[in-house]
Amino acid sequence: MKKKISDLIKKKNKQKIVSLTAYSKNVASILDNHCDIILVGDSLGSVLYNYKSTREVTLSTMIEHSKSVRMGIKKSLMIVDMPHNTYRTPKEAVKNAKQIMKKTKCDGVKLEGGKKIYETIKSLVKNKIPVMGHLGLLPQSDKTFKFKGKKKLERNNIIRDSQLLEKAGVFSIVLECVETSLAKLVTQNLKIPTIGIGASKYCDGQILVFDDLIGLNPMNYKFVKKYANIRNDISKAVSNYSKEVRKIKFPNKKNSF
Ligand code: KIV
Repeated sequence: MKKKISDLIKKKNKQKIVSLTAYSKNVASILDNHCDIILVGDSLGSVLYNYKSTREVTLSTMIEHSKSVRMGIKKSLMIVDMPHNTYRTPKEAVKNAKQIMKKTKCDGVKLEGGKKIYETIKSLVKNKIPVMGHLGLLPQSDKTFKFKGKKKLERNNIIRDSQLLEKAGVFSIVLECVETSLAKLVTQNLKIPTIGIGASKYCDGQILVFDDLIGLNPMNYKFVKKYANIRNDISKAVSNYSKEVRKIKFPNKKNSF
């Protein structure tokens, strides 16, 4: 059965929410059996396109990948990141979010930021566009890429922003690289669920970039646990293929017409 946003909110304090990123149909169809939310993240900019930052990702790239992901999903909620410079004003955000929703048939969009985008989120919600917030480390604007919540002002801003986002009507908030006690406090203070990435076990759910989880990305990050080493498996498979081609073992009779 297709999951609904209301199901997600009901999970708060009852069951952890499971979420991963996907950028294509085949991956999405595997994740669909295990996830509550599949996010088409603008992390695809660095993961797939080797961009220096997610700021280079365009609306059309997000839409094309989301159309592919859509084909792999039957049950999970599908959320699409709004790329940088597509929600500078409430009017621009509504226009672009409507386009994303229409072309990808996703269940909602995700935007990075707090106080500055309060009115924008209110406009989206008013236009019946479900919105997921994103606080803590904001890759579209961050300069240092350090975890958040060390300084008092930073902590107070995140607490204030989480409350503002809830007031504006978001259905959930991603907390990225947020110090443990702050993530716990924010989660306890909200009625909507928080989804953590590098934000401790106290969030209502967890999200990771799929390529990190399966070890396709060779980088190691503190907040990632690699549940597979798919680079080794791919390497073995390709090595066997190349040996068999060179020894004229593949294709054999069974593979030929
Ligand atoms: O772009 C992305 O993949 C994300 C997740 C890391 C939360 O925003």
